[in-house]
Amino acid sequence: MLRPSNTDTIRVGDKKFAISVPASRIQKEVERVAAEISRDYSGREPLFLVVLNGAFVFAADLLRAVTLESQVSFVKLSSYNGADSEGKVRQLIGLGEDVRGRELIVVEDIVDTGLTMTRLLETLKAHEPASVDICTLLLKPGKLQTDLKIRYRAMEIPDDFVVGYGLDYDGRGRNLRDIYSIINE
Ligand code: IMP
Repeated sequence: MLRPSNTDTIRVGDKKFAISVPASRIQKEVERVAAEISRDYSGREPLFLVVLNGAFVFAADLLRAVTLESQVSFVKLSSYNGADSEGKVRQLIGLGEDVRGRELIVVEDIVDTGLTMTRLLETLKAHEPASVDICTLLLKPGKLQTDLKIRYRAMEIPDDFVVGYGLDYDGRGRNLRDIYSIINE
């Protein structure tokens, strides 16, 4: 990953990216969402379920800005398992906490088509939580294919592929402080 100090463009792997959301704006929006959650869940103790890997940076900032007594657990979706992306056979790994009867807030990095989140919700519902809310850092409204109810979103972005602040391109770029959008060359 190359980040020249005097430009707002970088290379991640074989692609070029330009800064699209600076760290200062991200922090502002994350704090806004944390305040909304703290207000809506006042007096309650939700369990935050953070979806790895992409949401780890967002979750670290969000949870430290939330003023509630709360718990956090981490889950991961397996790679596609013997199916192509149409088959979407993915398993939920790491659901160690007993989610039955709990108020869950699922923390995701990005909702694109929404198919991943829809399947995740189906799996979670089989564990009979009291409720499930979604909190995503990014939403691409132009790509959404499902009627997901997304209660909390930090930012809506155009359809372009992005990296940084936890999101990767081919495993790289997660440690960037800002969010960058792909430049189609
Ligand atoms: P969906 O099922 O189409 O909503 O895709 C969700 C997953 O695709 C996210 O959790 C990300 O892992 C990945 N993804 C979608 N768009 C992007 C992007 O622009 N940058 C990095 N990862 C993305």
